[in-house]
Amino acid sequence: MQIHVGIVTISDRASKGEYDDLGGPALKQAAGGYGWKVVDELLVPDEKRDIQRAIRELINKGCGLVLTTGGTGVAPRDVTPEAIREIASRELPGFGELMRMESLKITPNAILSRNLAAVVETALVIALPGKPSGAVECLGFVVGAIPHCVEVVQGVPTSC
Ligand code: MTE
Repeated sequence: MQIHVGIVTISDRASKGEYDDLGGPALKQAAGGYGWKVVDELLVPDEKRDIQRAIRELINKGCGLVLTTGGTGVAPRDVTPEAIREIASRELPGFGELMRMESLKITPNAILSRNLAAVVETALVIALPGKPSGAVECLGFVVGAIPHCVEVVQGVPTSC
């Protein structure tokens, strides 16, 4: 099954144009490398409503997978996990656990990341850290589970 992916960069400063969004393009390149079709990329500030609206917009455009980058840490404006949990039907804790476990081998700061995955409507949403290399690394740790998970949440018949 072809995976249709949407990407949301969550950053106050990038959305104001104070610096370039590097996370979105890094994830776009990684997604292309996995053979996925990138449907759209959005850039929003660290506001729950904007994050939720962007995720829903991408799902309405047919994305079975939505990747977010940014806002997973402990800064006062980091609200990505809260925004996703409010609109999710269920959380998939294994994704966050694996991302943190593997990332801790790279940086002790990985313990600060509240990476998560959740089902929102008919899509798998994965919240990745804001640093472009960290986002791509974390995606790589969980990529093996993504195709099957997307099939299941999209209601595609599978063998298990
Ligand atoms: N995970 C990996 N694999 N690589 C990284 O460089 N950076 C960490 C962490 N997870 C990092 C990582 C850092 S420095 C922070 S502060 C947290 O992710 C949260 O990042 P965010 O608030 O930008 O989403």
